Amino acid sequence: MKERLYRSLQQKSIALTLVVSLAPLLILGATLYHQFENTCREKTREQISYRAQAQAEAIDLFLKERTAILNAMADTHTFQHMIDTQNLTRIFEVMNARAGAFVDLGIIDNTGTHRAYVGPYDLRGRNYIDQPWFNEVMIKGHYKSDVYMGFRQQPHFIIAVRRHENQQAWILRATIDPNRLEEIIRSARIGRTGDAYLVNRQGVFQTRSRFEGAVLSKANLDTRQFGGRITVIEMKDHTGEDCLYAGSWLNDNKWLLVINQQPLELLSRLFALRQMEMVIITLGVLGIVATTIFTTRLVINRLKRTDLEMIELNAQLVQSDKLAALGKMAAGVAHEINNPLAVILQKTGWMEDLLEEEDFQNCENLDEFQKSIAKIEEHVERARKVVHNMLGYARRMEPRQEDVDVNDTIQQTITLLENHARINNIDIQIDLADSIPIIASDQAQLQQVFLNLLNNAIDAIGSNGSIDVVSLREDDRIVVRIKDDGPGLSDEMIRKIFDPFYTTKEPGKGTGLGLWVSHSIMAKMGGNIHVKNNPDRGAIFTVEIPIVIPEKK
Ligand SMILES: Nc1ncnc2c1ncn2[C@@H]1O[C@H](COP(=O)(O)OP(=O)(O)OP(=O)(O)O)[C@@H](O)[C@H]1O
Ligand SMILES: [Mg+2]
Repeated sequence: MKERLYRSLQQKSIALTLVVSLAPLLILGATLYHQFENTCREKTREQISYRAQAQAEAIDLFLKERTAILNAMADTHTFQHMIDTQNLTRIFEVMNARAGAFVDLGIIDNTGTHRAYVGPYDLRGRNYIDQPWFNEVMIKGHYKSDVYMGFRQQPHFIIAVRRHENQQAWILRATIDPNRLEEIIRSARIGRTGDAYLVNRQGVFQTRSRFEGAVLSKANLDTRQFGGRITVIEMKDHTGEDCLYAGSWLNDNKWLLVINQQPLELLSRLFALRQMEMVIITLGVLGIVATTIFTTRLVINRLKRTDLEMIELNAQLVQSDKLAALGKMAAGVAHEINNPLAVILQKTGWMEDLLEEEDFQNCENLDEFQKSIAKIEEHVERARKVVHNMLGYARRMEPRQEDVDVNDTIQQTITLLENHARINNIDIQIDLADSIPIIASDQAQLQQVFLNLLNNAIDAIGSNGSIDVVSLREDDRIVVRIKDDGPGLSDEMIRKIFDPFYTTKEPGKGTGLGLWVSHSIMAKMGGNIHVKNNPDRGAIFTVEIPIVIPEKK
């Protein structure tokens, strides 16, 4: 019943402690876990978008610079000056020195004819009147082409600007090396999976892709997915992995700069961090569970032990209450019986005297009378012994305070019994400690206790045996142990042995008061007396006497 109560208490306590301590930890862990992932994904998108913007600005700047220098040359030189190849060569050199990346430079008149040219091909005399770009530049005033394969089978693109002079239009046209674009973009290819390239509206590579193809090959990308200035989308890349694509339109929305990267690669360090968080939380949870179980068990076990001690203490209290009540009652009864006994004894004495007279001497029942009177006296004597024992205890309930040498008291008691023991062939062994101090106590009462115990031991042994008497000091008590090799005690005897009138001796032999009186004396003194069986044989009685140092006179 109690066990079940403890178990349920333990379970409830463990469950409650675990819920209270683990709930915040787990909620925090779960929140961190999700917030962490969301925040990281957001940060990755922001980062790739920022990179795309920075690269797009760099390319825009590159194109604007080339266009600006071309415009500046067209603004500051006349058609006549430029169609002179020597002059054009000079201008071409200045342009390359200032900005670079120009492959060639040419002047085209309003009939579409290449009038002057500096560069690796002799394109002089070529006519562009049918080319769509020629018409566009004549109408719009400027033009930038997509990348295309030139005569040298080298990818390149052109920038052209138109000018009017004396109602005559002419065009300054330069070819640009797209490798320079790739050099700018290359810095955006980060890590193992990062790529960066330009495609035109049709998805044709304008610069080389790190993984997916050469210039002018077709990219596996629908450019219509990218709107506005910078768009970030997530889709599968060429390896089938999830990949973030950031796109930014530039060059009059003709080209799309694409930067892509697998987010897993960017997040891998963060994921490692999250794994560590999980490990720490798991270890924390295990630690809390183990500690909770351990401490709860500890507390419940302490509780169990305290409860047991309480039960034992209660039993002792009940026992001493019972003994005290019985004692009072018995002492009262004894007192009341004492006087009638004295009268009976006095009367039997008188009756004996009467029987001595002559009248009775001749009575045929004289013998019967005398025997009966003797029996009455014997039983009255027995009753007086009981009363004497009880009154002896009751009269001196409060112990005296005198200087007592416990070892000496033991010795004296043994001397009293020595003869009796020797007759029965019982050997009394004594082992008394030297360290026992003189205490303030009641010698006569202590002697009565030792006498009762030694008498009981001799009675229990009967004949042929031995008794060990040991005294020693234990902290603030003197301990006297009386061990015999008699028959020992049954469990029932151990339970009842200190009750008044409990005896196993034949009627007339024992009153059953010896141990009760001894117990009461020791309790009054603030000491104790208890009994247990010797594992080998016999019983061991232990008397504990408090050490009270006598006051100096
Ligand atoms: N050393 C012992 N070994 C075995 N039994 C014992 C021992 N001491 C006491 N007893 C048992 O305890 C009982 C009670 O002892 P207690 O001294 O109180 O009364 P008693 O010896 O029977 O009577 P009384 O002391 O008045 O002569 C004894 O009758 C005996 O059965
Ligand atoms: Mg006795």
